[in-house]
Amino acid sequence: MNATVMREGDAFGGGAAAGGRVLTPGVDVSHGTILYLDDISVGFDGFKALNKLSLDIDNGELRCIIGPNGAGKTTMMDVITGKTRPDSGTVFFGQTIDLTKLTEAEIAHAGIGRKFQKPTVFEQHSVFENLELAMKTDKRVRFSLTARLDSAQRDRIAQTLTLIHLAGEADRPAGLLSHGQKQWLEIGMLLMQEPRLLLLDEPVAGMTDEETERTGELCKTLAGTHSVIVVEHDMDFVAGIAQKVTVLHEGSVLAEGRMDQVQNDQRVIEVYLGR
Ligand SMILES: Nc1ncnc2c1ncn2[C@@H]1O[C@H](COP(=O)(O)OP(=O)(O)O)[C@@H](O)[C@H]1O
Ligand SMILES: [Mg+2]
Repeated sequence: MNATVMREGDAFGGGAAAGGRVLTPGVDVSHGTILYLDDISVGFDGFKALNKLSLDIDNGELRCIIGPNGAGKTTMMDVITGKTRPDSGTVFFGQTIDLTKLTEAEIAHAGIGRKFQKPTVFEQHSVFENLELAMKTDKRVRFSLTARLDSAQRDRIAQTLTLIHLAGEADRPAGLLSHGQKQWLEIGMLLMQEPRLLLLDEPVAGMTDEETERTGELCKTLAGTHSVIVVEHDMDFVAGIAQKVTVLHEGSVLAEGRMDQVQNDQRVIEVYLGR
C-alpha cells in the first residue's frame, strides 16, 4: 500500500464522497516520515516515565529501541497506541493524523499494529484460522464470519504463512506451537490487518537462537513495506538487524545512530551496555 491509497470507511478525518462511499486518505508520508513524537512527557504520581521525548521514524524504517529497564520504552509504545495519553507533547502518524485525538481502536484501524510480549493467539483454532480470524476483524474487509474466503484472501493467508515460517503448520492448533512459533503467528495476525507501522516489544524474549535468527530475518523482510519499531534487550539480535538505534534513558533519548556508534558512546556504556 502506498501513501495515495484511499481507504474505505475510515472512522476519522473528513473524507470526500466518491461514488456514494466516503473515502478518506490513509497516512500521509509525503515527507518521508511516518511517526513524529515531539516533546512527550508522561508522569505517574510525579515520576516522569517519559520526559520531553522526541523521536521521528522514517517511512519504511526498521528502528531498534534499547535502554535499561524503566527507561520508558513500553510507555512510549503505550503513547503511540493510545493506551496512555501524554501529559504534554504531540504524536503524529504521518503529516495529518494526530494520534492523541484517537482511541486505541481508531489508532489500530489507522494502521498501527502492536505485538505485546505475551502472545494472545486462539489456542483451539488452527494456525490458518487464527490468520483468518485476524483478517475478519479488519473493518475494511466486509464479509460475515460464515462467508467463504475468496481466492485473493486465501492467497494473502498463504503468503503470510510463508513469511512467518508457519506454512507447514497451517492446520495445527495454535496451542501446540512452540513459544517462538506463537510469537510469529501473532505477528502474522497483525499483518493480516495491513498495518503501516508495527510495534514489537521484546519479540525474541524466550526464543531459541534459531527462532531469534528467523525473527531477525522476518523484521528485515517487513521493513521497507512497513515501518517497524523493535524494543529489545538482546544486543546480538539488535546488532543483526539494526539500521538506526535509539537509546532511551530516564524517559528521553540518550543517544541515536548506527549500532557501532551507540555501542561506543560513553554515556550509553555507563547507563546500559556496561552493566
Ligand atoms: N501504569 C503505570 N503506573 C505507574 N508507573 C508506571 C506505569 N507504567 C510505567 N510506569 C513506570 O514508568 C517507568 C517506565 O516504565 P516502562 O515504560 O515500562 O519502561 P521500560 O519498558 O523501558 O522498561 C518505570 O519506572 C515504571 O515503573
Ligand atoms: Mg518494557
